[in-house]
Amino acid sequence: MSVKKVMDQFSIKGCVSIVTGGGQGLGKQMAIALAEAGSNIVITSRRVETALVTQKIIELEGVRCSVIQADVRLENDVLRMVDSILQEFGKIDILFNNAGVWRGDDAEKVTTEDWREVIDVNLTGPFIVSREVGKIMLQQGKGSIVNIASMSGIIVNTPQNQCAYNASKGGLIMLTKSMAAEWAKRGVRVNAICPGYMRTEMSEDRYLQNDPAIQRWFDMTPMGRSGTADELKGIAVFLASDASSFVTGSTFLIDGGYTAW
Ligand SMILES: NC(=O)c1ccc[n+]([C@@H]2O[C@H](COP(=O)([O-])OP(=O)(O)OC[C@H]3O[C@@H](n4cnc5c(N)ncnc54)[C@H](O)[C@@H]3O)[C@@H](O)[C@H]2O)c1
Repeated sequence: MSVKKVMDQFSIKGCVSIVTGGGQGLGKQMAIALAEAGSNIVITSRRVETALVTQKIIELEGVRCSVIQADVRLENDVLRMVDSILQEFGKIDILFNNAGVWRGDDAEKVTTEDWREVIDVNLTGPFIVSREVGKIMLQQGKGSIVNIASMSGIIVNTPQNQCAYNASKGGLIMLTKSMAAEWAKRGVRVNAICPGYMRTEMSEDRYLQNDPAIQRWFDMTPMGRSGTADELKGIAVFLASDASSFVTGSTFLIDGGYTAW
């Protein structure tokens, strides 16, 4: 059996990758990374305007890039999205469940509406998308699913309280392990990336307003800073590609050392 050279193991040339909510933030940089490694890209987004700008950047890599309007909470949107990708590309190799929302408040004040919104987008959405895309990958006998969870699925953040977000990400880590175990012998791998504090549109307001929480986050992070979206590019391509062919059900912390203290 010939063994591929290491950089060839990272190639995903000719693959088809979906990145949900990939128009901005972490999803945008991971979509660019997958394109740089040779994959065609489908960005799904609730609002297509931002995604259309990202599409232009991705096409500069010489791959195909489609934008599909879809809300991950809505089963009909997800079914339409999968149909449309199969019609255009004929297969789905890689799925990044990246779309997510953050809401924070003290547990005794969290409204049921906010709780449901966070669980719907961050946990039920990835379940629906993975179930539908998983069916295709199982038929193909191959696929890689990467869930963007968070260190909040493992630790309780401070000083901001955010029980719904933490619970949604903890659930996503367990969903990752459950689907990974069920599908491992059928060629579909499922893993999770758990970022620490990353500076993106999701947290930008706090940075602009010099929120004192930011200094607290830095003080609690051995590297003394937040991460940038491009610092997920390496792990994204690793998990998408055959470089991680014996990796499934795993959770990768990318947190500047936060969980080491
Ligand atoms: N920024 C951080 O510090 C951080 C840390 C850990 C984990 N994460 C996770 O990483 C992922 C990306 O976060 P980000 O910082 O880039 O945030 P972001 O707000 O910049 O991007 C989130 C994307 O998800 C999309 N989205 C939201 N609800 C959706 C829905 N119902 N259907 C489809 N798309 C939807 C948004 O339109 C946006 O494009 C999220 O799952 C987030 O929880 C972020």
